[in-house]
Amino acid sequence: MSKPVVLITGAAGEIGQALVRELAGNARIVTLDLAAMPEELAGETTHVTGSITDKALIERLGAEYTFDTIYHLAALLSTRAEHSPALAHEVNVDASVLLLELAAAQSAARGQAVKFIFPSSKAIYGMPDLETKAAHPRVKEDEWLHPDTVYGANKLAVELLGAYYSRRYKQLGDAPAALLDFRALRFPGLISAFTLPTGGTSDYGPEMLHAAAQDKPYACFVRPDTTIAFMAMPDGVKAMLTLAATPRQALSRTAYNVNSFSLSAEEFRQQVLAAFPQAQISFAPDAKRQGIVDSWPMGINDSAARADWGWAPEYDLQRCFDEYLVPNIRQRYQA
Ligand code: SER
Repeated sequence: MSKPVVLITGAAGEIGQALVRELAGNARIVTLDLAAMPEELAGETTHVTGSITDKALIERLGAEYTFDTIYHLAALLSTRAEHSPALAHEVNVDASVLLLELAAAQSAARGQAVKFIFPSSKAIYGMPDLETKAAHPRVKEDEWLHPDTVYGANKLAVELLGAYYSRRYKQLGDAPAALLDFRALRFPGLISAFTLPTGGTSDYGPEMLHAAAQDKPYACFVRPDTTIAFMAMPDGVKAMLTLAATPRQALSRTAYNVNSFSLSAEEFRQQVLAAFPQAQISFAPDAKRQGIVDSWPMGINDSAARADWGWAPEYDLQRCFDEYLVPNIRQRYQA
């Protein structure tokens, strides 16, 4: 049997690199990113360097390949998006529509649904104040959907559009032979041992750790008590692959929370200090970025993902640090 053809946008980013590593060998992978793929992954994919906002380029990809699955990872993260909201719409929403159109056209032409896997975020939630945040530590999918950031609004918009393309696309015309199959995961702050995020607002976690491993001082831009959920990157990739592999009839929703562990910035610092006792970590809260993180829930309720497709993270807080982050980061910077 020929290998499935998979498109990964934003493939040179954090999730993209981790996903390519997992899929390599099992799929024919086409990658798209503004940047080149890192050297060690370059042989694993057919890489196209370009922008997801380039309509002609997306159409050319659609003409050249028939995709079984699209992992649409390219995005401007929350801090970066807040500096350029119009660009954020263009990258996070308009380009997503270009890809949804591609997937819709290919689903209709083949009579078989293209799977469209989309990383959404805890940022689609907006907690109005710290008291409410503390009172609702595990937010469910349909609660508090009033994001404070353009990034959160963008992600929520694409979730809604994806659900529309999956269920009602062109509902007043002739029914297409098949609709695309959109599935979104709402992730906590993902932490990788191998890459650093750029332009996010949960970045203080990974930044603290990577700075400590390099013996660099770090000033954390949120208060010590600031609490949100994080997840080890291998669990993020596992969640995407498991959701993608689940039969459609098992799914009761198009967007699922996936949770892992929650901790405060001070608890994060303590974990880092346990591994790197010399680390110089101070707190210098930035009122504006603090406001964004305060609007995100402390954790998310992932019981629907657990019930529908057997989701369970492999890394709890301690395993994440002791078995994944610390040894790999140590090795990375020693090398
Ligand atoms: N981790 C992302 C950010 O900080 C949220 O999805 O922007």
